[in-house]
Amino acid sequence: MDLAGKKIVLGLTGGIACYKAAELSRAFIKAGASVQVVMTKGALQFITSVTMQGLSGQPIFTDQWDARIGNNMPHIDLTRDADVIVIAPCSADFMAKLAHGVCDDLLSTLCVARPASLPLLIAPAMNVEMWQNPATRRNARQLAEDGIQLLGPAAGEQACGEVGLGRMLEADQLLAEVIAAFQPKTLKSKRLLLTAGPTFEAIDPVRGITNLSSGKMGYALARAAREAGAEVLLISGPTALPAPFGVQRVNVLSARQMHDAVLAHVKGQDIFIAVAAVADWHVANSSDQKLKKDASGSTPELVFAQNPDILAEVAALPLTQRPYCVGFAAESENLLEYAEAKRQKKNIPLLVGNIGHDTFGKDENQLVLFDVEGHTSFPRADKLQLARQLIAEIAKRLT
Ligand code: CTP
Repeated sequence: MDLAGKKIVLGLTGGIACYKAAELSRAFIKAGASVQVVMTKGALQFITSVTMQGLSGQPIFTDQWDARIGNNMPHIDLTRDADVIVIAPCSADFMAKLAHGVCDDLLSTLCVARPASLPLLIAPAMNVEMWQNPATRRNARQLAEDGIQLLGPAAGEQACGEVGLGRMLEADQLLAEVIAAFQPKTLKSKRLLLTAGPTFEAIDPVRGITNLSSGKMGYALARAAREAGAEVLLISGPTALPAPFGVQRVNVLSARQMHDAVLAHVKGQDIFIAVAAVADWHVANSSDQKLKKDASGSTPELVFAQNPDILAEVAALPLTQRPYCVGFAAESENLLEYAEAKRQKKNIPLLVGNIGHDTFGKDENQLVLFDVEGHTSFPRADKLQLARQLIAEIAKRLT
């Protein structure tokens, strides 16, 4: 569980997005955290403390003068053993208060009185005009400068019927951002490009050849890299997975499209990880029209041509343009021997071998890392956990 043992103070301010905070409190708890909810008077207009208490399993605090705390100082006591404060939704009014250090209710006072090292994350939620108002823009800049992390907002249709920036992020996105806040920023200000998923090689407009890659390992790495602070661009073959929050994705079908997309974006990248299960061949005589059965029962003859080796091509770029290259290898036999040979053949500093070739589609994996020093095994674990370990290893090698 990604938030096991974490103590979260969840602050709600006035806004229609309070309904999402109900879901968020559950998501935090499911991820292993305990949640102490603090609500402003405005928030109580939108959702009751009964709902939030039922969901968080803890009494709710709304009042600066709440006598339930022994020393009568909830604004101090509530944050002293907390790991993070999350304000979701955070109204324009509350952003203004935070930017100016106003302390006129329990939640604002608690934020000002928090220990300097306690992270404060806010999820703005307001009408598009309120978000774009110069005062709110100014406050947002001030909050970022003060080290307060803004999560969103997203653009889209708003409860008032207007459209634009100001929607609060969804609960699952906020959960991912809070989990990310606890990860070490080992790739801060690095740019990372990766490929993931299978490729699809057309036979005709409705048929093609693909493989069983689900994209899970590549997507987990994209997420882990983003959590580590990198700007991530994911070139993805066809998968059923949503792009991890904050990761930019370019969708491709064939190996040649993947090749072109990688080469179009490789400039300025610090790291390239080739996770995709790229088809080695495409159908050279693919048909523009759907192939039809004929009466004689004859079968189509497919002619194959080799695809470009994307990783080898990136690894062969001149040193000044070449990102740090990481490859993956799925071998069905002799992993140690074949994988190290593959690393040397592709001329890359790091190659990751999947132990066994039955990892496609699974949530777990078992890896071996090959570099010039030899190999290191990572025991079987959840793909996201392995992805975080791998990102840490890559970061170590970059410094
Ligand atoms: N790769 C690539 N472009 C290709 C083929 C592979 O970028 N056309 C990358 C994969 O993403 C992976 C690594 O190269 O990171 C190794 O892929 P793999 O299929 O195991 O190896 P191949 O080079 O195709 O060699 P072989 O199929 O002979 O084992």
